Amino acid sequence: MSDSTFPVIKLYGVYGYPVGHSLSPLFQNEAFRIANLNAVYLPFSVEPERLREAVEAVRALQMGGINITIPHKQTVIPYLDQIKGDALLTGSVNTIVNRNGELIGYSTDGDGFLLSLRKEAGFEPADKEVIILGAGGASRAISFALARSKVRSLHLVNRNPERATLLRRDLLERLGFEVKVYDYSDPELKRLAAAADLVINTTPVGIFPEVDATPPFPLEYCAAGRLVCDIIYRPQETKWLKRASELGLRTLGGLGMLIYQGILSFSLWTGITPSEEPLRAVLNKALVVSTGQDGD
Ligand code: ATR
Repeated sequence: MSDSTFPVIKLYGVYGYPVGHSLSPLFQNEAFRIANLNAVYLPFSVEPERLREAVEAVRALQMGGINITIPHKQTVIPYLDQIKGDALLTGSVNTIVNRNGELIGYSTDGDGFLLSLRKEAGFEPADKEVIILGAGGASRAISFALARSKVRSLHLVNRNPERATLLRRDLLERLGFEVKVYDYSDPELKRLAAAADLVINTTPVGIFPEVDATPPFPLEYCAAGRLVCDIIYRPQETKWLKRASELGLRTLGGLGMLIYQGILSFSLWTGITPSEEPLRAVLNKALVVSTGQDGD
């Protein structure tokens, strides 16, 4: 029951630390506006030691839901009532739905990546050879999603072998899916590159365009026309993707994954699937303003 004569504004948001860089408020508010819902989505800077209180506030304020970002995706789990789907499988939550005081955790990161791959690049992962650089949170979401999609083989390349080995163990235990692990100096990478249908960078290397860094992977061995993907969306075209284009490879940046994971969160909260074009438009505009790029 409403306690005011004004319509109740439903509150949504994103919890992160830091959170100032998040583009989610921009496009989620646009989605609420287009759907004509009386709701607002705000960024909240939540210190790790205050995460429990912040989650309690979702109940106390009767918020509709929350996105969870770095560094809270794993640590938020004990404070929730239920964990479903990919969140259960990967041990990572990026979306909380408040269903009448019951907080349910989901992860839309993996499905967001798959939607971007299929819709933007027309790439069907089943039976493909895939290489993933990095073994952190994003790599985990993407590798589980690709393993579920029945790729033929998945190769993980990481600096820290223990982290990749842990991910390999979880994929085997939870999905019965076998992956191989390599470091960047492995001479085998050239042969893998030549056979790969898809190479994905999930590391932050390339996020600072002023530093001339690209992931140390021998892209020049990839066959022409194969797909190279970077989950970085700022800049929209990393140096790595630029190099891939120059080598005659197809490329996919990270903006699609950002948009689709957000669309999936929005539909978990509201039951409405927003159309992506207006959301892409506000993001493109913001990225041009913030980087001085023309977005290409
Ligand atoms: P995210 O949630 O975005 O995946 P993360 O969990 O911190 O972030 O994971 C970042 C990944 O990028 C890790 O696999 C990390 O490698 P290590 O496990 O060896 O630390 C990788 N990474 C970060 N900086 C890197 C660099 N300069 N070169 C290569 N890999 C790097």
